[in-house]
Amino acid sequence: MRTLSPSLLAADFVNLKAQIDLLKKCSIKQLHLDVMDGAFVPSISFGMPVIKSIRKYTDMMLDVHMMVEEPDRYIQDVADAGADLITVHIEGCRHLDRTIKHIKSLGLQAGVSLNPSTPIMLLDEMLPYIDLVLIMSVNPGFGGQSFIPYTAKKISRLADIRENNNLKYDIQVDGGINQETISTVLEAGADNIVAGSFIFNGDIVQNINLLRGIIEEFE
Ligand code: DX5
Ligand code: ZN
Repeated sequence: MRTLSPSLLAADFVNLKAQIDLLKKCSIKQLHLDVMDGAFVPSISFGMPVIKSIRKYTDMMLDVHMMVEEPDRYIQDVADAGADLITVHIEGCRHLDRTIKHIKSLGLQAGVSLNPSTPIMLLDEMLPYIDLVLIMSVNPGFGGQSFIPYTAKKISRLADIRENNNLKYDIQVDGGINQETISTVLEAGADNIVAGSFIFNGDIVQNINLLRGIIEEFE
């Protein structure tokens, strides 16, 4: 079952409630929340108070993408704010094993993200212990960038590794997904598709239906 995870980074924050209602109406089950610290990535987005408010308002799965240096410093707070899945960047973690164990010890799902230029072999040892691998298909930090085509090969390699080794992680892709690029990542084997600007710029319901239609056709 392939799923769509709208990235709220592209939402209109004054109208967040109404936009979450629309997502719910479209039967969206997972929200992608991009936390940025201005150090790991150049930009700053939002943090715990926003996650907490969203948690109070919806029972959707909250998928928190931590684009921060040394995310261990925030894992307890993000868990307390109501995250269900915490995804950290391998490039931001000095002790990834410890970080993954920290997330799992709080009863949450743990994901690891790779920047476009980071080879997947760096994750070899951790693949049996994580719930999700996030393949960045743009350089993290901003919405609205163009999809980087070579990242699709990383998705298909990860899908092969999973099959050949009887592993279980989900493969998520994030960045530059629209009605053209989504087919490439579906064919490559992505299970969970993050989309920000494509969904929120314009008619949200129509845009979700468009992407969903392509996903359903593919399955
Ligand atoms: C980028 C973020 C993404 C972003 C995607 O660094 O991790 O989740 O919101 O935005 P689009 O879909 O516009 O590329
Ligand atoms: Zn993201």
